[in-house]
Amino acid sequence: MTSTRPLRVPGIAYGGDYNPEQWPEEVWAEDMRLMREAGVTMVNVGIFSWALLEPSEGVHDFTRMDRILDLLHANGIAADLATPTAAPPAWFFRAHPEALPVDKDGRTLWYGSRQTFCPSSPAYRRAALRIADALAQRYADHPAVAMWHVHNEYGCHNAACYCDTSAAAFRSWLRARYAEDLDALNNAWGTTFWSQWYYDWDEILPPRATGAPPNPTQQLDWRRFCSDELLALCTAERDVLRQAAPRIPATTNFMVLRTFDALDYWRWAPELDIVSNDHYLMSDDPESDIDIALSGDLMRSLAGGPWFLMEHSTGAVNWQPVNRAKVPGEMRRNALAHVARGADGISFFQWRAAKAGAEQWHSAMLPHAGTDSRIWQDVVHLGADLKALAEVRGSTAAAQVAILWNWDARWALELPSQPSGELRFQDLVRDWYTPLWRAGVAVDFVRPDADLDRYRLVLAPSLYLVDDAGAANLAGFAERGGTLAVGFHSGAVDQNCHVRPGGYPGAFRDILGVRADELFPLLPSQTLQLAGQVPAGATATLWSERIQLTGAEPVASFADGPLVGAPAVTRHTPASGTAWYLATRPDPATLAALMDRICQEAGVQPVIDSSPDGLEAVRRSGTDADYLFLIDHAGTGAQVPATGVELLTGKPVNESVTVPAGGVAVVREPH
Ligand code: GLA
Repeated sequence: MTSTRPLRVPGIAYGGDYNPEQWPEEVWAEDMRLMREAGVTMVNVGIFSWALLEPSEGVHDFTRMDRILDLLHANGIAADLATPTAAPPAWFFRAHPEALPVDKDGRTLWYGSRQTFCPSSPAYRRAALRIADALAQRYADHPAVAMWHVHNEYGCHNAACYCDTSAAAFRSWLRARYAEDLDALNNAWGTTFWSQWYYDWDEILPPRATGAPPNPTQQLDWRRFCSDELLALCTAERDVLRQAAPRIPATTNFMVLRTFDALDYWRWAPELDIVSNDHYLMSDDPESDIDIALSGDLMRSLAGGPWFLMEHSTGAVNWQPVNRAKVPGEMRRNALAHVARGADGISFFQWRAAKAGAEQWHSAMLPHAGTDSRIWQDVVHLGADLKALAEVRGSTAAAQVAILWNWDARWALELPSQPSGELRFQDLVRDWYTPLWRAGVAVDFVRPDADLDRYRLVLAPSLYLVDDAGAANLAGFAERGGTLAVGFHSGAVDQNCHVRPGGYPGAFRDILGVRADELFPLLPSQTLQLAGQVPAGATATLWSERIQLTGAEPVASFADGPLVGAPAVTRHTPASGTAWYLATRPDPATLAALMDRICQEAGVQPVIDSSPDGLEAVRRSGTDADYLFLIDHAGTGAQVPATGVELLTGKPVNESVTVPAGGVAVVREPH
């Protein structure tokens, strides 16, 4: 949020999605009173209001929105005003049935829900820009409007459409990518395989359902196209909004979730004034605090500083098989953990729990039970907490460790026909992130072309696809004295998904000082023993490969299985740096021991010395002070050396601060 269009809402903005159109107007006055009671400072309005704002094509009715914005302003609450383009009205689809999306089997997906449009539909684009423009013209100068919320979660339900219009758009995108050179596309896609050579651009299709796997590079380019196609819609709306209101910042809410990978947010983030995220806990994740931290670090990295948490939940969601409620204290820890990782705004889906509609069983700030509820008490308490943390705004975190995160590499890794179908990019990254989180080591996420020299340690847990420049960037970092660690099946293919010949791990063989001649992925039931400089009883799963050392030293080797005696973990010291290779997935304790050694050798310091188990420690640095966030996940409480003022209680801290059991402390440490 170091934007030229800053958010003009003081402190840490607090609020939620507000859908007053779903309620009679008598309820609105109560909403205002309760928002003030909770310390709400900004709400996200109009997100799904298209059908009410434009009852028929080109005919607008802003009377309700006028009243909502006026009411908010009168109550001192800012509006993050959405373009309602995530939910086109029924009349639009009756007029433009060709704008309905088509899945890869050729089935039309119907309206009656949301995001039921083809991203490449010209009719949709015209209609979306028309309503965005009408809103912008009407409200550019409205004093309540502090931010534009472009669309909602692009690609959540319609990341890919396989209709003929999309096929034509894909071909246009390919013609630009390959500079009108069809042979270049044929070579990049390797279309001599299975007689796929194209003689005419019009022969090319999206990777629709086929009997055997489609071409991998076609699928990869398709993922790139789908991300770019939605981004083009986003920037088109943003431009319309900017033209009418040049000073109001624009955001759109990202989704960094294990289950959502459709958009290359490295390409999206620079297009926005404020980067924002929606984060939800997965009920089956026993350590969702790690997921919060990972997504927060990724957001801070995408934003290059503070960002905005646009949505999370006060309690259970309604879209998982079983929706777990939050335990007492969990919602507060979640929200403050996002702030610790750089969020300068905390917002929920949604303000008032719905009576009707597909989300009637989703939690909210004001639950069905009303104010006589634990959630409401927690919401009011959180409002006070965020007010007490106002000065944290704008501060950011510095890290000595960088982890490679790349959507191209993720998409390519998870294509069908891999040596193992068990490889999941975000899981592999989280494997390595977890011990760092436990040790209280601050982490940034970076692209392969990032400036790496400001880090001591660079980790590439999973970088299956990497281009030559990216591989050289990582190698150069290690040669200049940095410490690099690379996970298995990295460097395997180039940007076109072509295998790098000569042995594995392709692009990283030389810098790692190893060469594998054959891959031995492990069955889900298979566990191998490890021996060497690893804890007693160390094991490994998921992957193995037959490595020869070409300069590296062995750190651990396989003690059983088909590769008994072969290296499993290696360490190389090229030039003045160090380069580690993990040719398998060690069990969590072994990985933690390896990470500990790697960090120590690299000189990486944790945020605080010897953080007790289950205590999350994060530091945000500001101009005049640092802010040490301490979050107790263990339920035991902790005593941590610190000096300054604890902001949540306002109490001075002399030598140590008490973190209450299951609670949070934030210490202002003056410079
Ligand atoms: C997403 C959407 C919201 C709502 C929530 C429910 O984040 O943006 O509109 O559907 O999910 O969890």
